[in-house]
Amino acid sequence: MTDRTAASGPGGGPPPAPGDAGDAARDREWSLAELARAYAYPEPAPDGPRPWLRANMVSTLDGAAQHDGRSQPISTATDMRIFGTLRGLADVVVVGAQTVRMEGYRPARARAEFAGPREAAGQGPAPAVAVVSAGLDLDFSLPLFTSPLVPTLVLTGAAAAPDRVAAARRAGARVVVAGDGTGVDPARAVRALAGLGHTRLLTEGGPRLLGQFVAAGVLDELCLTISPMLTAGDAQRITGGPSVAVPHRFALASLLEEEGFLFARYRRP
Ligand SMILES: NC(=O)c1ccc[n+]([C@@H]2O[C@H](COP(=O)([O-])OP(=O)(O)OC[C@H]3O[C@@H](n4cnc5c(N)ncnc54)[C@H](OP(=O)(O)O)[C@@H]3O)[C@@H](O)[C@H]2O)c1
Repeated sequence: MTDRTAASGPGGGPPPAPGDAGDAARDREWSLAELARAYAYPEPAPDGPRPWLRANMVSTLDGAAQHDGRSQPISTATDMRIFGTLRGLADVVVVGAQTVRMEGYRPARARAEFAGPREAAGQGPAPAVAVVSAGLDLDFSLPLFTSPLVPTLVLTGAAAAPDRVAAARRAGARVVVAGDGTGVDPARAVRALAGLGHTRLLTEGGPRLLGQFVAAGVLDELCLTISPMLTAGDAQRITGGPSVAVPHRFALASLLEEEGFLFARYRRP
């Protein structure tokens, strides 16, 4: 992988790497520790940590966020390494129920490479997964709910069906109410997670959920993999839902490249 950040300005630049100063810019496989440095969350503010919501998404050149209903066909091994690194840095992974259903989500695993840094950062062995759902039409007998390393959270509204809420709790999930109706208010979800001590937030979409975080103005960072593929068709983009009144401008923080895949990181200025 090669660092193409050079002109991206503050926040960019290669992480310290072994060897000479140009080492990070050369095409070679980066260790997970180097990736973790490159994708580190911002340092907590002096008056205490504030939530930082980062999204990680992959898109083809023509804007498709999936192929045949999944993101795997448009991804690559390095994209999955970055995906794993971002999980290794996060307190919680926030994901829409449809992505859980379509991608067959399993609990996040503890990885030896991140054990030390996670402990030092006061984090559990793996991020919690927080599933956002109004209907709670989820299979609560799945390992995601019954046997995660850290309890899976279910974010839903106060008016969600009580029997489904009870089923989630019976399975071992922690139900967090973040909306007055059946649905979740995106900004309230961020606050609720922060209230539980989860400030390093990572959302893996899907597009319908991410669009709501964007519209609510609570997305701080987008880690976007641009896959050098064209798919045509009518696949979703990485965000869905109603458009915002004025486009939200983000600034490029870093840009890595490997075999035509671009791994960009944009931040809210
Ligand atoms: N390219 C990528 O990086 C990427 C990433 C993730 C997913 N994907 C793809 O995207 C597709 C799925 O994404 P999607 O956009 O259709 O769905 P999604 O955003 O993953 O999930 C939508 C579901 O989340 C729940 N939800 C969303 N907003 C909610 C709110 N405000 N309150 C309560 N519940 C809410 C609802 O669940 P209930 O129906 O249970 O109420 C809704 O049906 C899959 O094909 C997946 O492969 C691609």
